[in-house]
Amino acid sequence: MSDKNRKIVLASPISGIPRADNFRTVETDIPVPGEGQILVRHVYLSLDPYQRPAIAGAHVTSNKALEEEEVPSAETIGQVVSSNNPDFVVGDYVRHMGGWQEYSVADSNQVFRVDPDQAPLSTYLGILGMPGLTAYASMIKLADVQAGQSVLVSSASGPVGSMVGQIAVRKGATAYGVAGSDEKCSFVVDDLGFADCINYKAADYPGSLAERIPNGVDIYHDAVGGQMLIDALGVLKNYGTVVMCGLISQYNESEKGRGFNLAPAIIKRAVMKGLIVFDFEDKRQEFFDLAAPWVREGKIKYREDRAIGIENTGAHFERLMSGQNFGKALVVLGDH
Ligand SMILES: NC(=O)c1ccc[n+]([C@@H]2O[C@H](COP(=O)([O-])OP(=O)(O)OC[C@H]3O[C@@H](n4cnc5c(N)ncnc54)[C@H](OP(=O)(O)O)[C@@H]3O)[C@@H](O)[C@H]2O)c1
Repeated sequence: MSDKNRKIVLASPISGIPRADNFRTVETDIPVPGEGQILVRHVYLSLDPYQRPAIAGAHVTSNKALEEEEVPSAETIGQVVSSNNPDFVVGDYVRHMGGWQEYSVADSNQVFRVDPDQAPLSTYLGILGMPGLTAYASMIKLADVQAGQSVLVSSASGPVGSMVGQIAVRKGATAYGVAGSDEKCSFVVDDLGFADCINYKAADYPGSLAERIPNGVDIYHDAVGGQMLIDALGVLKNYGTVVMCGLISQYNESEKGRGFNLAPAIIKRAVMKGLIVFDFEDKRQEFFDLAAPWVREGKIKYREDRAIGIENTGAHFERLMSGQNFGKALVVLGDH
């Protein structure tokens, strides 16, 4: 084991899409666990869209902007390498908010054990982790999707969207996706089992939405906000449900509260429900017990978009926030 901890700190204020050079790598001593604490060597680091507004101090998880030299927060999967706590032994795998770094110390009440025999370790950050739970909350708890219904899913190839559509299909609904390239759309239809997927960067969008979904949808899962939400409302049936899950089209904007016309939501008598995944933490085990067998049996498909090495975290975050990622964004930090 190396005797140094490499961490990523904010090097300069971010304007618009984050750039790799907004961050830099620093090396410090590996922290020493105090009484009751454990030392964790990170194996996987999760990059998620919410980290962009969180760094800006404009997110439900953080209303304080990250300052220069501070380490961004993130969920990690890691292995216990030293323990001052009887509940954890060296070699245990855990999930916790370890941050953009190779090692962290943690209190036992902030750490959750994960089992590599139940599912691949990386999936605890993706399809079976927070993004998967978000999809479960959207379809099962908020929209209550039913057989025979139809669902439109934005960011359909990403970890949340891919699980939203696959849960809907498993419930007997028809899923339609929206994604940013023909390659992503092929994956959404051919691998994930959506009925169709519309490339919103094609010249015929948004007219293609109404042409390809002539009967409309009962549910729209919104990861994007802004104009994409307005366009999706065009194919929502009357009394349809919108799950407002994300606003990725606005995360790189500095001005908050940009106005846009939500009149179509009124005209459709739409039900719009806001989703905060942390409200469903008590459903995590219920979701995992349902979905982990699907993953083990290959019934649920997923993609990961991996970078290797902590020094590549900033560039990988730039890739995610400019829409170039294709699948769950992860940084691989070590062996397991
Ligand atoms: N409410 C909650 O509790 C909760 C929890 C988890 C996630 N979320 C939200 O769910 C959404 C999806 O998250 P995820 O983890 O599954 O990540 P993700 O889908 O991999 O997010 C990145 C993708 O978003 C799309 N995108 C990026 N910029 C865009 C833009 N300007 N306009 C339209 N699309 C853009 C791109 O896909 P395309 O190329 O297909 O556009 C990109 O590949 C995010 O908005 C996230 O914040 C919310």
